[in-house]
Amino acid sequence: MFTYDPGFTSTASCESKITYIDGDEGMLLYRGYPIEQLAVHGDFLETCYLLLYGELPNTTDKHKFDHTVMRHTMVHEQMSRFLSGFRRDAHPMAVMVATVGAMSAFYHDSLDITNPHHRMVSSIRMIAKMPTMASMAYKYSIGQPFVYPKNDLGYTANFLRMCFSIPCEEYVVDPVLERALDRIFILHADHEQNASTSTVRLAGSSGANPFACVAAGIACLWGPAHGGANEAALAMLEEIGTPERIPHYIARAKDKNDPFRLMGFGHRVYKNYDPRAKLMQQTTHEVLNLLGHRDDPLLQVALELERIALHDEYFIEKKLYPNIDFYSGITLKAMGFPTSMFTVLFALARTVGWIAQWKEMIEDPSQKIGRPRQLYTGAPKREYIELANRA
Ligand code: CMC
Repeated sequence: MFTYDPGFTSTASCESKITYIDGDEGMLLYRGYPIEQLAVHGDFLETCYLLLYGELPNTTDKHKFDHTVMRHTMVHEQMSRFLSGFRRDAHPMAVMVATVGAMSAFYHDSLDITNPHHRMVSSIRMIAKMPTMASMAYKYSIGQPFVYPKNDLGYTANFLRMCFSIPCEEYVVDPVLERALDRIFILHADHEQNASTSTVRLAGSSGANPFACVAAGIACLWGPAHGGANEAALAMLEEIGTPERIPHYIARAKDKNDPFRLMGFGHRVYKNYDPRAKLMQQTTHEVLNLLGHRDDPLLQVALELERIALHDEYFIEKKLYPNIDFYSGITLKAMGFPTSMFTVLFALARTVGWIAQWKEMIEDPSQKIGRPRQLYTGAPKREYIELANRA
């Protein structure tokens, strides 16, 4: 007997102690801690520690962990040659899929997945090097030299510097932007068994190395129904352009014969306001205020769209609320990131979640290779017909 459950709407694929979501309540907990408290009081590396080890670090552990991560930020120099094989107009997500997968060819000394020390070294390497790879993908696309990491900066400040500094000028990291981006990273760090995390687990269930598994996760994240939604949401706001045009797009979203969907709205699990979207909305306002983009027409369109959708019968009945991607795109754009980098930033932040879930799976004694069954609806058994005898 098999169950047939397309899209896994009611099938649990694993047991996990990492992240809890109550979609009806709009609740998200990492290791039991509400996302609102972690995002307001903690920093991203603290969240990484929590997801990986299950507890918040004390002062000594925090210092040691931050130090270890920041001492693994450099990538093998050969990586820069690897990057230069790409066209300059390559999508940075294509670059990330390839370069993260290729990291398994550079770090052989930590690939034994049965060795707990190797697993931890790979995990730290991945968290530490992802910002370096992401900034290299960005710098390459705009024809600027790669910027080496600076380890006395914090994790997020270092990333901002690697993206936005140039060798001929000093770059000072704005603490408000640093805090905002750090919060974006916290909000994206894990989200239990979403499509990309399930992909990482499935790839890892065969014993594939963690770099290959995370590369698979990045490939899955790229799609517009998942991590690509932040890019798609911003493209949609730009297409709508002015608040007067919103009713036309709302009508299209409701039309069953029109494939158009309001990007940044709806979620498989949340049937209430996405708690990450609430925090993100606040961060968006802080960043736009700081950068003097308060009157950004995109924000006006976003706020009006949100207002209309929250009062429209169709959206209320189907419990379609704005999700995190609705706001993150506007914020990242204001910070200076091009839309093609949005999903890369999501991948950077989600890496710790993928890795924590991969480690949990490998360390689970009941772990088996993932092997879904199918409902076969093809031709019944039949005899081969020689080519000359075919009609
Ligand atoms: N605009 C208009 N109608 C929608 C939307 C939307 N964004 N989302 C869902 N619906 C309708 C859908 O047509 C369906 O109607 P009906 O019951 O009449 O057929 C109903 O709501 C349920 O939708 P579903 O497609 O069965 O729901 P799902 O759980 O399979 O899909 C989703 C979830 C997130 C893929 C979907 O809501 C969507 O495509 N949203 C836009 C893309 C997006 O913002 N994705 C980011 C998700 S959050 C970040 C992440 O996880 O990466």
